[in-house]
Amino acid sequence: MKFPEYRPRRMRATPTIRRMVRENRLSVDMLIYPMFVRYGSGVKEEIGSMPGNYRISVDRIAAEAKEVESLGIPAVILFGIPETKDETGSEAYNQDGIVQRAIKEIKNACPSLVVITDVCIDEYTTHGHCGVVRGDKVLNDPTLELLGAMALTHARAGADIVAPSDMMDGRVGAIRIALDQNGHTDVAIMSYAAKYASAFYGPFREACDSAPQFGDRASYQMDPANSMEAIREVALDIVENADILMVKPALPYLDIIRRIKSQFNLPLAAYNVSGEYSMIAAAAKMGWLDRDRAMMESLLSIHRAGADMILTYFAKDAAKILNR
Ligand code: PBG
Repeated sequence: MKFPEYRPRRMRATPTIRRMVRENRLSVDMLIYPMFVRYGSGVKEEIGSMPGNYRISVDRIAAEAKEVESLGIPAVILFGIPETKDETGSEAYNQDGIVQRAIKEIKNACPSLVVITDVCIDEYTTHGHCGVVRGDKVLNDPTLELLGAMALTHARAGADIVAPSDMMDGRVGAIRIALDQNGHTDVAIMSYAAKYASAFYGPFREACDSAPQFGDRASYQMDPANSMEAIREVALDIVENADILMVKPALPYLDIIRRIKSQFNLPLAAYNVSGEYSMIAAAAKMGWLDRDRAMMESLLSIHRAGADMILTYFAKDAAKILNR
């Protein structure tokens, strides 16, 4: 294979040839749409930092889920914005909490839509941390009990998959035990196995008002400099019986996605997070980027790196293009 006899441009000559040799394809089957459920009624308010995404009250959530389902998107992941927060995030594991109610509404309206729930107390705590706080420390083991309780209320409400995003040690195992001991052996766990302490969560924290009130999340989320640590985190979650692994964020961590895909055989998800969304949305608004092309290229790259599923705020827009 050598120029001038071999010419790679032959295989790029026409749209039809390019279609034939294309190695990777996005499918709507890969997409998971994050939804923000809030208290109140009759509310659908746009998130300032994430134009095109909304905080939606429980009574309106089923209509949104129907739209998502009608686009062929197989799954949603739910985040809650409670009316009140406290030290231990008790709304997170209240059987009548907003996410718990939203799960029921969605499952009633769209029984075959897969409902995933984020399991983490930061949106529900006054301090905004993902665990129980004592002094300036985020405690690991006392948090596990709350996460188990939270996952159980989601399972009881009808969630198909629970997704712990807190990065406490041992949480996948603790949640598995809590679910199994209460008869929810069929509820799956999608583990945010390699979740980095990232600047790209900024817009999400505005959406949920969940920024930590002191310090940062570096004592539990991973250091962006590390990749072998991601392998260890994943290995632990597999021992604890995670069903699906996740890397988060996606675009700045494509190497991590690739490594995990090559080394392990579980389904792999990647979270194209709020900051990745907002950067493209903002640049497009300025006229600096073609929104649709930048979106599709990003999603394709995440898939090419090895992600089987992509959690993305672009899911509805991408589905519309893929369905054409
Ligand atoms: C924690 C959680 C966060 C995100 C998902 N789950 C925020 C954080 O860790 O600070 C971020 C998602 C995004 O930025 O899109 N409950």
